[in-house]
Amino acid sequence: MPPRETWLVLGGGSSIGRAFARQAAAAGQGVLLAGREAAELERSAADLRLRHGVPASAMLFDALDLAGHAAFVRAAAALAEGRLHVLLAFGTMPSQAACEARPELARAMVETNLTGAAAVLTALAPLLRGQGGGTVVALGSVAGERGRPRNHLYGATKAALHTFLQGYAARHARHRVRVLTLLAGPVDTALTWPLPRLPFMASPQGFAAAAWRRAQRGSGQAHLPGIWAPVMAVIRALPNRIFNRLDL
Ligand SMILES: NC(=O)c1ccc[n+]([C@@H]2O[C@H](COP(=O)([O-])OP(=O)(O)OC[C@H]3O[C@@H](n4cnc5c(N)ncnc54)[C@H](OP(=O)(O)O)[C@@H]3O)[C@@H](O)[C@H]2O)c1
Repeated sequence: MPPRETWLVLGGGSSIGRAFARQAAAAGQGVLLAGREAAELERSAADLRLRHGVPASAMLFDALDLAGHAAFVRAAAALAEGRLHVLLAFGTMPSQAACEARPELARAMVETNLTGAAAVLTALAPLLRGQGGGTVVALGSVAGERGRPRNHLYGATKAALHTFLQGYAARHARHRVRVLTLLAGPVDTALTWPLPRLPFMASPQGFAAAAWRRAQRGSGQAHLPGIWAPVMAVIRALPNRIFNRLDL
């Protein structure tokens, strides 16, 4: 049995985060569920402890509380058993129309999906390097690969996150910090419930199982589910005169 390590799930209350945490716990790893809903996170942590007999705790975390990130990282380091790995699984996706009507929603999305994500990963970097390396798995999106009429503000936050993660990976690679950016297609979660049925929709459980397998090996960028690799290759290659008529 390999020594126990710990997955810090940022966005521990998200559907994808919770499903990934179950994968980690089933593999005997400890879990720290970090988010804004303490009671709900504690219930999920208790469930993981009971089902899998692994250490699991809830931690309060707000991506927008930039001043609190350093203390949050210290608390995570104190709770973690073995090396710490990170799943970045928080985000918001108000509709394009809502963002256009209420620019403060767009700003909150940028601050959460990009500024908050970059800030907390930056705060975690010395810990990851100091322990001799670790894995960061981040929820990017196919929405960040080509700006679409229906969600280009959300897509822009993910494209910027992808770019940040590329540089972060390069900067910390020689300290054995491995970064896997998941270019996720639609997953059936609260984020997509307001939208019409989307193609190739994955369940959070299926998505998390594939993400867990992927996290054990590769780094870089990976489409998930894999069908999105050829689909996005076609979408990226479409000339503007066709793409602009599709109203995607
Ligand atoms: N579902 C999809 O189709 C899809 C596709 C591509 C990428 N993704 C990405 O996957 C990640 C997880 O999303 P999901 O689909 O599992 O949706 P979800 O269940 O709605 O989860 C979103 C999570 O983000 C958290 N969050 C929002 N603002 C936060 C903040 N300021 N600080 C801390 N946490 C905050 C929410 O916490 P509260 O519960 O406290 O509100 C919630 O737990 C997101 O980054 C999303 O962009 C999803």
